[in-house]
Amino acid sequence: MIPLPNNAEIFPDADSVARAAADRLVALCAESKQERIAICLSGGSTPKRLYALLAGPDHVGALPWERLHWFFGDDRFVPWTDEASNVHMVRTAFGDAPIPEGHLHGIPTDGTLDAAASAYSDTLRAFYGADSLDPARPLFDLVLLGLGEDGHTASLFPGKPAVNEREAWVVAVPEAGLTPFVPRVTLTFPALASSRQLLVLVTGAGKREPLTRIAGGEDLPARHISSVGTLTWLLDRAAADLG
Ligand code: 6PG
Repeated sequence: MIPLPNNAEIFPDADSVARAAADRLVALCAESKQERIAICLSGGSTPKRLYALLAGPDHVGALPWERLHWFFGDDRFVPWTDEASNVHMVRTAFGDAPIPEGHLHGIPTDGTLDAAASAYSDTLRAFYGADSLDPARPLFDLVLLGLGEDGHTASLFPGKPAVNEREAWVVAVPEAGLTPFVPRVTLTFPALASSRQLLVLVTGAGKREPLTRIAGGEDLPARHISSVGTLTWLLDRAAADLG
């Protein structure tokens, strides 16, 4: 077994990680008294199972879709119709889930990269209703993140300036540090930390190396994942090297 992050929970496989995350979202919604519930989605391949599960028969009826608002922790700066787009991935995985018009807040990918980051920052500020984040009133009820094999999360890549951004909520990432090598738009660590709950979903043997490097003290971006609320790593046995 590799050395694990604090607050790690281990599950037999990727499907059980997805089920655990889905159950947490259902519980969060059941406990929430808020008119609107803000979820920040991660991209990549790991969360596809979760998103399909949420839209599936075991969970779709348990979620208050009319109160849920879905945001993105990052996206690739490609059209939403592009296979590499996280909006494309989420829309595909959610299928015909009853998401009301205007409740899926994709990061714009027309115009310039900087304009897209600025526009998404405006979207978040308008939803939040203030220009600065109050730790007592998190922007998101739940943030989902993944872990890249190079130790990145969202589109916060090793050695790139976005990792150190502490003021802006959303920044442009002209050069991705891992495939797909397209420009990105990403939320920053302060914005991602503005969460009641933050779950990092990590599955597969390919993530043992970054997990080990992080546990060994290497200053990789994912070490800086934090939350003003709770932070939990949901790992499968393959990622935790438990055979
Ligand atoms: C993205 C994601 C990214 C992802 C990790 C893990 O846009 O690619 O936001 O941060 O979570 O790269 O990706 P996998 O789940 O595909 O391993």
